[in-house]
Amino acid sequence: MRHDDYANIIAHINTKVGMCVAARVSRAFFAILLKPTRLALQKMGLCAEQRFQISIRPLALVRQCSCVKERTKFSGSIPAAYDRYLGPILFQPYAEDLAARVPVKKTSSVLELACGTGILTRVLRTYLPSKVKLIATDLNEPMFRQAAAKFGKGEKVRWLEADASDLPFDDRKFDAVVCQFGIMFVADKALAAREAYRVLKRNGLLLFSVWDGMKHNKLGELAHRTIASYFKKDPPTFYQVPFSYHNRTEIRRVLKQAGFREIKTEVIAKIGQAKRAEDVAKGLVEGNPVAATIAKRDPSLLPVITDAVTAAITRRFGKQNIHAPMRAIVVRARI
Ligand SMILES: C[S@@+](CC[C@H](N)C(=O)[O-])C[C@H]1O[C@@H](n2cnc3c(N)ncnc32)[C@H](O)[C@@H]1O
Repeated sequence: MRHDDYANIIAHINTKVGMCVAARVSRAFFAILLKPTRLALQKMGLCAEQRFQISIRPLALVRQCSCVKERTKFSGSIPAAYDRYLGPILFQPYAEDLAARVPVKKTSSVLELACGTGILTRVLRTYLPSKVKLIATDLNEPMFRQAAAKFGKGEKVRWLEADASDLPFDDRKFDAVVCQFGIMFVADKALAAREAYRVLKRNGLLLFSVWDGMKHNKLGELAHRTIASYFKKDPPTFYQVPFSYHNRTEIRRVLKQAGFREIKTEVIAKIGQAKRAEDVAKGLVEGNPVAATIAKRDPSLLPVITDAVTAAITRRFGKQNIHAPMRAIVVRARI
């Protein structure tokens, strides 16, 4: 290797270390600066409940204000519809599966990313010993605000607004990082993998699930096609996101590059069950950011499209006692 190459590598390392230190110093500085504002907002009741914390990271705040894409904005009436109509059929069965894979140790600490309305959080809190610290985070505070009613007073969960690719935690804090059906929404998967790696303790476990392709998840496919059929130009693309990250070779490559080892992927097929086709349709249309996209174009289309999705589900799975095949990939890796 030539001297110039060495010099370039050293310069690159120095820049990275410098950026890291600068980011940490500015993080601490802004945390101190913004604390009185946060406390004042909490007193005025403007910042949700005291046990929900807002992010005090300048980078995260800037990102959330300016760049939150329509497709990741779970807010307004979406969290309630998501939790009520999609939770039981799509997310509960996989939450039980994923929680059972988390190692049970009395004194561990578990970080959940993209916790949404707390469907996995609920199962984890029941399953893990009460001494295990459980921190549940999501990009959209309205999602985890929906979760609160599921937990008793004595059940400890710390809720925090956080971007999975910009975690507000020190290095090596957690024994496990878990995430159910959230990684697909994170724009920079490599960054999210590096962040998970950074906050895990030595020998820590990363465990997450993603949906397999749309052709294995017919409810998503039906919703996507039916919604698109109402827009001749520029149809909503929301449903491409949850079914976009299932290439196992690519997932392994990203994790390996972040430093993970013992990477294992497993395809898990399940049957989603619901009583009524119209409830599933409500969830698929109104329980996702696609609802906001449709409403922005023409609010009167929302009930029309929900009816059309109900009809499509009825044709395929019947009007009642729906049994729909679903397929996910569960990924585990160690640092
Ligand atoms: C399909 S929901 C899954 C929620 C939950 N894990 C479950 O199983 O019900 C996707 C979640 O990812 C969250 N999300 C999207 N982008 C995110 C990001 N960059 N960082 C953290 N969470 C994000 C959304 O707010 C939403 O709650």
